[in-house]
Amino acid sequence: MPQFNDQDLTAEVIRSFASTPNPRLKFIMEETVTALHDLVRRTNLTFEEWSQAIDFLTRTGQTCTPLRQEFILLSDVLGVSMLVDAVNHREREGATQTTVLGPFYVGEHRPMPHGTDISMGIDGEPMFVQSRVTDLAGKPLAGAEIDVWHADDDGFYDSQKPDYDKQGPSLRARFIADADGCFSFRTILPCSYPIPSDGPVGALIAAANRHPMRPAHVHFLVKAEGHEPLVTHVFLDGDEYLRSDAVFGVKDELIASIEKHAEATLPDGQPVSGPWHLMRYEFQMKPGTGMVPQPLMAAK
Ligand code: BEZ
Ligand code: FE
Repeated sequence: MPQFNDQDLTAEVIRSFASTPNPRLKFIMEETVTALHDLVRRTNLTFEEWSQAIDFLTRTGQTCTPLRQEFILLSDVLGVSMLVDAVNHREREGATQTTVLGPFYVGEHRPMPHGTDISMGIDGEPMFVQSRVTDLAGKPLAGAEIDVWHADDDGFYDSQKPDYDKQGPSLRARFIADADGCFSFRTILPCSYPIPSDGPVGALIAAANRHPMRPAHVHFLVKAEGHEPLVTHVFLDGDEYLRSDAVFGVKDELIASIEKHAEATLPDGQPVSGPWHLMRYEFQMKPGTGMVPQPLMAAK
């Protein structure tokens, strides 16, 4: 009878993957087993803690629905999403920086004409977004497809609201860049908001005395032929959570100062009443290819 030895156990489990035909899967499983076994050894994990971890992961899975992805949220608050993003975007000289996709790339991104008000009547201070998509040399990328989405004035995405099925998308749309690479739209000023905190991930960060807030931002997914898809946000300068984002997603290059205006017309000539805000941001696309994320729930 061989004597049990916990170092031998690790080697034996690694050996059990020796015939894995896919070399990348084999490598990742070997590294995963090594890291998990190290964690158990270094922490002297108790039965109770192990059982709590299993229960936590079970509840994380059970919290997922077609419109809610608690595992992505877990990855986000552990900094894993930003790390995966970083190791996959090491060389971005001159290109716009990337950040997390987040769990709210869901539902339908309807193509809309430039200047459309994507707020669909939701209350808030008006904001006009003027933007342009170019290559690294500054050449406009006509026909680039841009998906945008952001939270409302109370910090909620459309898909978090109980009537999403009936109301359809708001504060979410798709634009196509014109011959100059430009696109623009009207919306409302987003505010900082808490990540969904009523599930196991929220309980975890509360147990760590961490706040759940994200600084105000607009999400952009930019696709242009021959270029790497760009997943990013533009953050609003001055937000109090820029230095403590719950998901570690802020990069200085992605912070835009928002100008306050009082003119009676927006830059595209539309009338506007009261003060409004202007967000200007240019996206520089890196040549190449890459994975295009799909919305969590396809349009009905
Ligand atoms: C978001 O910005 O939509 C988001 C990103 C990560 C976690 C939660 C929310
Ligand atoms: Fe967001």
